[in-house]
Amino acid sequence: MENKLIVGNMKMNLTYEEIVRYLNNFNETKDNVVICPTSIYVPLFLDKQFKVGLQNVFYKDMGAYTGEISPKQAKSLGISYVIIGHSERRQILKETDETINLKIIESLNSNLKVILCIGETLDERQNNQTNSVIKNQLTEDLKNVNETDNLIIAYEPIWAIGTGLTPTNSEIKETIDFINSTTEKLLSKKIPVLYGGSVTDENIEELNTISNVSGFLVGGASTKADTFTNIIKEVLK
Ligand code: PGA
Repeated sequence: MENKLIVGNMKMNLTYEEIVRYLNNFNETKDNVVICPTSIYVPLFLDKQFKVGLQNVFYKDMGAYTGEISPKQAKSLGISYVIIGHSERRQILKETDETINLKIIESLNSNLKVILCIGETLDERQNNQTNSVIKNQLTEDLKNVNETDNLIIAYEPIWAIGTGLTPTNSEIKETIDFINSTTEKLLSKKIPVLYGGSVTDENIEELNTISNVSGFLVGGASTKADTFTNIIKEVLK
């Protein structure tokens, strides 16, 4: 990945009125800026030429699956990215590595770029289990994945998401080194790795100095047009 990628994960935030206001104040339609709004708002962003991603997807291409959206449907609308395996979906929606794996395969088959989220809980980090948890997630989630050109990994320590806490730069670098060596073993290829978890316009300058980070997955800070713009400008300057 030549330029760093910056992905905004807006989660289930903002009303229609707030989204319209956001769109009036945000115009970063660059190729390496991807915005993942709540799915009902996607067409508003596509109409304004943003690169758009979904926050989740289903693992079948079409059919009687009430409430779900397929990778094929997403692609047909002009959506180019999808976040898969976010910790909120793993924890709150009880997503398993098995369904995450199926979603990744179906999405890659439909030519979507997949952002696979992995990361450890605070307990796991404190008990020195970070590497084993990550190795297990990568091994299970990437089973039978052969096509890797459209694969991106987001390292998101669960304890850093929405908490204002971040690991130190050297902790992030060390874990991403481990992710790189694991994906090289599993896929014989280096996969770009984003960092996510409490990225703000105040800590981005420091986080942006980590040598093996290929970009950022920004949650809360992406829901404010001015803050997200500051982050993008800092990363791409
Ligand atoms: P946060 O969320 O930036 O609000 O911590 C990141 C994410 O969940 O992707």
